[in-house]
Amino acid sequence: MAEIGNDIQKAKKILTNSGLVSIPTETVYGLAANTFDTDAVLKIFSAKNRPTFDPLIVHTDSLAKIESFTKNIPTKAHALAEKFWPGALTLLLEKTPQIPDIVTSGLRKVAVRIPAHPLTSDLLSQLDFPLAAPSANPFGYVSPTTAKHVDDQLGNKIDYILDGGGCNIGIESTIVGFEDDEAIVYRLGGLSINDIEEVIGDVKIMPHSTSQPKSPGQLKSHYAPKKKIVIGNIPELLALYKDKEVGILSFQKQYPEVAKENQIQLSHEGNINEAAKNLFGALRKLDTRSVDIVLTELVPNEGLGLAINDRLKRATAE
Ligand code: TXA
Ligand code: MG
Repeated sequence: MAEIGNDIQKAKKILTNSGLVSIPTETVYGLAANTFDTDAVLKIFSAKNRPTFDPLIVHTDSLAKIESFTKNIPTKAHALAEKFWPGALTLLLEKTPQIPDIVTSGLRKVAVRIPAHPLTSDLLSQLDFPLAAPSANPFGYVSPTTAKHVDDQLGNKIDYILDGGGCNIGIESTIVGFEDDEAIVYRLGGLSINDIEEVIGDVKIMPHSTSQPKSPGQLKSHYAPKKKIVIGNIPELLALYKDKEVGILSFQKQYPEVAKENQIQLSHEGNINEAAKNLFGALRKLDTRSVDIVLTELVPNEGLGLAINDRLKRATAE
């Protein structure tokens, strides 16, 4: 169990002394350390059991700070930064030598984001270093959206959890990089493609798994709960798995043939943003139920639905 609270001075002290603090953001909780302190950053990898080939996102509270450790920021990146920061946008930008190689796994570019959560913004504004922070979950598992999620899995490995309540968006940031002048989305996330395209025009979407993923968020199996999950038409799946104890993760509908406690509706009103917010908590909850298999369905492929469907597919990949 970690200590949980909302003491920013305490968080600051721990981070300044090479410790780990879990921080709330509007997307998911992060596991933070001083970006410039290599020993502290290494602790993140070991706490998460994360391979060092998987680079970290660097968080801070102003574009001016970001400009101090990146260079050649593309015009489109500037446009997105102005419009969406603080927010659920991560940009891949060329780094200066001030960013240690361990943070970017040796890549030339560093992922940066200005998160929008009042506690964390306050903390970041008081630090003279940015925070390297992946999501605060064991590598490969579902991201945490409450302080308790963090404590359940990593509580014994971190010094302090800054409790900022439930995450408003509930799904990780959208990652955008640039090749020549083309914008490429490497991870679908909490900022929708529509919103991005309204500012910079068409973007290329490349979140699919390759043999050498640019980001492990592109790995086919990632964000995966422990229970086996199948995606399809729920009534058809119910017929197919009628001999098994099933759980259901549906978009809106409830199914009378399955016990209430073994099914979760992502949004009774069919609201896609609410569904995103509930997704990871629902996957965690179903992971604790005594069912053999979880039946689920894709949500409408619009707005944050693209990111939800992406996570559902990765959660079901072997
Ligand atoms: O919403 C979020 O983005 C949360 C909060 C805490 O900010 N963070 C998060 O971090 O989801 P993480 O580490 O779980 O996922 C970051 C993804 C990884 O798939 C990583 O490979 C990719 O970003 N990434 C980080 N730096 C990169 C880089 N330099 N080039 C390409 N991909 C990078
Ligand atoms: Mg993660």
